[in-house]
Amino acid sequence: MVRLKDLGVENNYAFNFDDFILLPSYIDIEPSEISLVTKFSTNITLNVPFISSPMDTVTEAEMAITLARNGGIGVIHRNCTIEEQIEQVKRVKRAESFIIRDVVVIHPEATVGEAAKQMQEHGISGLPVVDENNRLLGIITGRDVRFASPEIKVRDAMTKDVIVADEKITPETSIELMKKYRIEKLPVVDAQNRLVGLITYKDVSLRGKYKDAVRDEFGRLRVAAAISPFDLERAIKLSKYVDALVTDVSHFHNQNVITSTRKIIENVQCDVVIGNLGSKEGVLDSLSKLEKVAGLRVGIGSGSVCTTTQITRTGSPTLYAVAQAKEALDELGIDIPIIADGGIRNAGDIAISIAFGASCAMMGYLFAGCKESPAPMMILGGRYYKLHRGMGSVSARQKRLAVDRYAKLSKEIAEGTEAWLPYKGEATNVIQELAAGLKAAMGYAGARNIKELQTLAKVKRVSITAFAKASDLLFPGETK
Ligand code: XMP
Repeated sequence: MVRLKDLGVENNYAFNFDDFILLPSYIDIEPSEISLVTKFSTNITLNVPFISSPMDTVTEAEMAITLARNGGIGVIHRNCTIEEQIEQVKRVKRAESFIIRDVVVIHPEATVGEAAKQMQEHGISGLPVVDENNRLLGIITGRDVRFASPEIKVRDAMTKDVIVADEKITPETSIELMKKYRIEKLPVVDAQNRLVGLITYKDVSLRGKYKDAVRDEFGRLRVAAAISPFDLERAIKLSKYVDALVTDVSHFHNQNVITSTRKIIENVQCDVVIGNLGSKEGVLDSLSKLEKVAGLRVGIGSGSVCTTTQITRTGSPTLYAVAQAKEALDELGIDIPIIADGGIRNAGDIAISIAFGASCAMMGYLFAGCKESPAPMMILGGRYYKLHRGMGSVSARQKRLAVDRYAKLSKEIAEGTEAWLPYKGEATNVIQELAAGLKAAMGYAGARNIKELQTLAKVKRVSITAFAKASDLLFPGETK
């Protein structure tokens, strides 16, 4: 276990990732055999310790789906209306369940044009057609819509002879049925022919593809969502769909924030992760005033597009914040997950965070340039770039005020900026590279799993000359 007093940094040094190095230790397995299973929050286990940040250039449904399929979790940003945020969460939940419960349906008297609009808005390719009593009358798919005039009634364009299943159907039988009848959607009905769910071929066939996927008890991908501690309505509405809520405030250790968060925790059933925290006192005080805290999000001012430290000269570097939170939890004798948030650039930063007590890492910058990020792309000098912006940047604050009529900006100054990042391609590759890098780090450090990295890792302060390179090397992209 890392002890700050052994490192000589106990009371006088706000450090970060580059100040330390993991020392090599004996291991009896190969890096590929190392387990990255960890906790995101009290009730949520991940297969890789990676979380995408709740930023509007990082995490909406597409990113959250990719994270969950690959073993991590995405936190949907809150720079949108409550309805929009819930829709993003629902998209994740619909992405891969066996039986979709929250089915988007249409009435037979609606027009084909309305059906097409619904399909587009929800990103789906077919709608069961039901009457006022939720009885199944037919199904209308993208194909029916494409070949019919938009003015005609759904009832005249839908397929009426629908193959259905009952709730007891297994994934295997549903695949057999869909193959036999060459259909992609299988409505699930009760004894009175009322619609109770929907099975899609895509979802069922994907189940075997993502072995590391993080799923809830219904087989749906897990997802979290960001909330303001002052937005009880949003928290309550979201809590019906998400696996966890994550408070999204740069300085959690504030009496009003803590009091409002208490109300949220009392009113929702799901896990609530609190943050951001940056000091031992902040963690101790917050935990003394709040019950059922499911995780701690820590780090203030280290984010890639964060200007807090420049503007205010305050902050708590992410690794220091992890160490502070760990000390507080050790003092209290409780074990809740610590999430290292801000400034993480590579697998090594994650490894050292875990060695200091983190359970997982939250990343904006590393995912922002990916295909799945909901950000504009531009071409500059023949290369592709995607936008990454701080949630405290001028433009993000303006959007918040425009979309959320209850939004109140408590600060009068922007604490974030914008940047264009080279396009990185698919987030799956980033996740796999991070996982491979983390396993390599753990292999050196002698840790077979996350718990061992948290408890056995040996860490030393590093001198600035320790890894100096010859000065005449020319690296790719450099000119001398
Ligand atoms: P990275 O370095 O991974 O950091 O991009 C992501 C984290 O940065 C925080 N964040 C901000 N911090 N001003 C800040 O001071 C901002 O505008 C801002 N936007 C995001 C947040 O904790 C995120 O997870």
